[in-house]
Amino acid sequence: MAIKQVLRMGEPLLLQKALPVSQFDTSELRALIQDMEDTMLDMNGAGIAAPQIGVSLRVVIFGQRDTTLKNPRYADANDVPYTILINPILNFIGSDIEDGWEGCLSVPGLRGMVQRYKRLHYKGYDQFGNVIDRLVSGFHARVVQHECDHLDGILYPMRIKDLSQFGYTNVLFPNSKLGDDD
Ligand code: NI
Repeated sequence: MAIKQVLRMGEPLLLQKALPVSQFDTSELRALIQDMEDTMLDMNGAGIAAPQIGVSLRVVIFGQRDTTLKNPRYADANDVPYTILINPILNFIGSDIEDGWEGCLSVPGLRGMVQRYKRLHYKGYDQFGNVIDRLVSGFHARVVQHECDHLDGILYPMRIKDLSQFGYTNVLFPNSKLGDDD
């Protein structure tokens, strides 16, 4: 389909609560998912949410489709299976939280330290309406929390507790190969 322009922080649509998908396996849903896949791949994202390409529906995609390709932005992303997740419901397990650096295609050039629950159970559907039901931890749990936050109008900078740990990627990590613009 097409590589779409990713909406950036400041855009009102990114702050909206997205609507659930009511019908699976439709041509509209297929087209949306294709656009999200094309855009995420083009920008080397670890994940993308439909609102980021201007569609306020509860659809997220995350993980690495081709595990022979390494994601240059997030090495840990290679451990997360490629997942199309629709109408997700998250339940955190326990109270363990962990700090981790996050970036977002809607907040280009920056990284911030965000606390996330370490373990969670998530449920939802794939594009055909099949149930997805998983117990995950670590980076997988982090990506799911980050992407699903987009469906409730939350961007990761809104979750940063200590703003001294928020900055430009190429200043925070001068020796890394992370791009300046993502
Ligand atoms: Ni994001």
